[in-house]
Amino acid sequence: VKDDRISRITSAIRVIPDFPKPGILFQDITTLLLDPVAFKDTIDLFVERYKDKEISVVAGVEARGFIFGPPIALAIGAKFVPMRKPNKLPGAVISEEYSLEYGTDKMEMHVGAVQEGERALVIDDLIATGGTLRAAISLLERVKANVVECACVIELPELKGRERLGGKPLFVLVS
Ligand code: PRP
Repeated sequence: VKDDRISRITSAIRVIPDFPKPGILFQDITTLLLDPVAFKDTIDLFVERYKDKEISVVAGVEARGFIFGPPIALAIGAKFVPMRKPNKLPGAVISEEYSLEYGTDKMEMHVGAVQEGERALVIDDLIATGGTLRAAISLLERVKANVVECACVIELPELKGRERLGGKPLFVLVS
């Protein structure tokens, strides 16, 4: 994306070496949230892209997809659906196991939250290996939703996560 707002967003993201493990350069979006202009620019860029795409579901991945997803959902008039870590959702769930950058995990979604044929956007802060977004796509496709696109603030392109999304488009602000 080429936009003057991108450089402010990029500068507002803090990079912390050796977190949570040695050798990992952690991309910390909490500093982006401390800059209300950069935070708003981030949300606006997504809203501008998705407002006229007839999206009825914004699915946010725990934990940081819960920060960016809801303001986008409200602005485009879509529902927000949390994709959660295991054993957090109280109702009936479908779950999907996946591997991530450091370990394996499971993702769950409430049965009945998304209807067949709904147009969904998946939001997270960052794509690394792509395993997390792949699991979110799978959950939505299992209930026969149409995943229009995935969107992240940050992509780590060297990990080639975008190639694991089964051909679904990925939109990112910062690479
Ligand atoms: C991070 C990030 C993404 C995921 C990306 O979450 O926020 O959700 O990793 O990795 P992947 O593309 O290799 O799957 P994390 O595992 O740190 O969980 P958290 O957000 O709950 O802290």
